[in-house]
Amino acid sequence: MKKTFIILCTAIAAVSLTAEAERVHIATPGSSLVVDAPKDGPVFFMYYGDRLSDADIADFPTAGVSWLDAYPAYGIYPEHESAFSAVHTDGNMTLQMGVQNVERTTAPDGAEITTITLRDKKYPFELKLNYRTYPGEDVIESWVEASHNEKGNVRLTRFMSGFLPIRRSDVHVSQGYGSWGNEFHLEEAPLPHGVKIIKNKDGVRNSHTAHGEVMISLDGKARENDGRVIGAALCYTGNYKLMFDTDASDYHKFYAGINEENSAYNLRKGETFVTPPLAFSYSNEGLSGVSRNFHRWGRNHRLANGSTERKVLLNSWEGVDMRIDEPTMHQMMSDIADMGGELFVMDDGWFGVKYRRIGDDKGLGDWTVDTQKLPHGIQGLIDAAAERGIKFGLWIEPEMINKRSELYEKHPEYVIKAPGRDEVYGRGGTQMVLDMSNPKVQDLVFNIVDTLMTNYPGLDYIKWDANCPIQEAGSQYLSADNQSHLYIDYHRGLEKTLKRIRAKYPTLTIQACASGGGRVNWGYMPYFDEFWVSDNTDALQRVYMQWGTSYFFPALTMASHISVTPNHQTNRIIPLKYRTDVAMSGRLGMELQPKDMSEREKDQTRRAIADYKRIRPIVQFGDIYRLLSPYDHKGAASMMYVSPEKDKAVYYWWKTETFVNQQLPRITMAGLDPDRKYRITELNRIDNTPLAFEGKTFTGRFLMSNGLEIPLGHNVDYDQRSDYASRVLLLEAQ
Ligand code: DGJ
Repeated sequence: MKKTFIILCTAIAAVSLTAEAERVHIATPGSSLVVDAPKDGPVFFMYYGDRLSDADIADFPTAGVSWLDAYPAYGIYPEHESAFSAVHTDGNMTLQMGVQNVERTTAPDGAEITTITLRDKKYPFELKLNYRTYPGEDVIESWVEASHNEKGNVRLTRFMSGFLPIRRSDVHVSQGYGSWGNEFHLEEAPLPHGVKIIKNKDGVRNSHTAHGEVMISLDGKARENDGRVIGAALCYTGNYKLMFDTDASDYHKFYAGINEENSAYNLRKGETFVTPPLAFSYSNEGLSGVSRNFHRWGRNHRLANGSTERKVLLNSWEGVDMRIDEPTMHQMMSDIADMGGELFVMDDGWFGVKYRRIGDDKGLGDWTVDTQKLPHGIQGLIDAAAERGIKFGLWIEPEMINKRSELYEKHPEYVIKAPGRDEVYGRGGTQMVLDMSNPKVQDLVFNIVDTLMTNYPGLDYIKWDANCPIQEAGSQYLSADNQSHLYIDYHRGLEKTLKRIRAKYPTLTIQACASGGGRVNWGYMPYFDEFWVSDNTDALQRVYMQWGTSYFFPALTMASHISVTPNHQTNRIIPLKYRTDVAMSGRLGMELQPKDMSEREKDQTRRAIADYKRIRPIVQFGDIYRLLSPYDHKGAASMMYVSPEKDKAVYYWWKTETFVNQQLPRITMAGLDPDRKYRITELNRIDNTPLAFEGKTFTGRFLMSNGLEIPLGHNVDYDQRSDYASRVLLLEAQ
């Protein structure tokens, strides 16, 4: 007789379900994952979708559920792709795994962990499949632990974090691809036969070529607020691979994990290889439903300081580049403080004594202040910021080194380079990556932050940059046999270091930057408070990039800065109102020289920052409802954030194209309480006359079934006119 185990909210420390455990039901409030785990047999995947009851599950086998291996290891019947493969010490390349037991535990944070232990039938080789759920969150994390007791090393050649068969019907996949300056550009397509691979092989930054997250719509072209969608995010800092294998069967088989290419791992006897987690979420409320699940889960369980409001800041990079000096820093601090900002961040160019950082060809590695530029040092700047009532932060790039640095003179053996080959250089013609697999380098990187924080405890924020890929895979630290460990051990070393930093400095705000958005992945976010979405600050392109980023990442992680016009990257001329309205949908900041702003612009920004502070809790902690996608090319884009209590909301509308006699769609809102009345207030208003509905109240039902007609342009003086238009509306329940 089969027995079903529901793994939900049962506070049991570690219960073995061995004897009869077969049907395993891993449940979240809105979803169910069901596998069958008969003793000695393989684990069968049965179902993932809407939350089911015991009664629903009872007659499962007669209903045509999948009966596919829930974690296929390469071995017997090897004609399909596998999630795991290994070469035993005697050269045997096969695995034949059988269930030993099923166990569930409750972690201190309330998470329920279901562990299915599988053992090879002939070899002392073990795999543990883990599934973690959190009370109240519709996200499941899966990861795998491999270990053995064979004599010598077992060579692991594939090690996926998770596997999910998706029943074929009209399945579409949305993915984010891109490059520097064009991060998280969305693309959606039906899944064809064959293998589709989304991957990264940069070594250092893993979200510039493609992103490690996908949305899988089960009901044809994905819709924002209805339809069944599965979202999956590989939470890893390094090279990854997401793969769909669609053969002649009725299933698309989805695999996700570390990219195994050039990364075979020699696992010692008694050592455990732990994969990073794959987080996945199911929603019947469309793409936005999955996004809300990921945002909530991220803020509650994964993001550093996920419940802390992010400050409004000015970053110096686009304003002054490396032309750092004390009077300029003081002036920028005064200006941002005067406009209501809360933090000033000094970007690149502040360090280097023998090798002064006046260009990008020298100085990385020498994190000592350049007193020719800054006579009163970092403490002088922290004090100057305090005098102006704001906080101070600075930029570092601790995993990197320039050949022209004192660090390189002392430790050339710290750089990544293939044995016997010449060094290969990146940015500035002299930049290289430090070998994070080397424990001495890990200490060095930890000490960069620790020394800064010890010397300057008033430092509030660090922008942690990384501007170079691994260009020549090879380690001067790893043994000849283990050269293939570099890609993985680099990231183990990095994570170890970041954990140490976080343990000592839990509330320090740290931004993940990697040539812009090169490190936008949930693998980084336990150690970082936010990321720099892109070096491209063009507001129009940001509408697209931030739209894609919001699929998996909440607004408080998305650093979004108002920059100058014409834009540095695109040369596009966009009015301040539009630039501000786009930046206000993420973590608002500025990235320009405020000295060059007119008094009128400063005034407008001052009011916008005050408005942002008013809506900050809704933006940073609210639920997202995307309404009209810019990728649909209907001439506008629109989205909103709604407070969890549904008593407040912020609605954004950005025009994305301009034509004469243009017909833009009326946009209906979402996520409101149909029975409450909401008063409308326009924020960051520039028009000479108020909107027709300013100060009026409407029921949530009306707003969600009719919406508000947004005028195509702004009523402003002649010299202020432009082809751009945007609105930010605050909705407050009466
Ligand atoms: C690359 C980053 O993406 C920029 O924002 C800036 O910090 C520069 N590095 C500084 O060199």
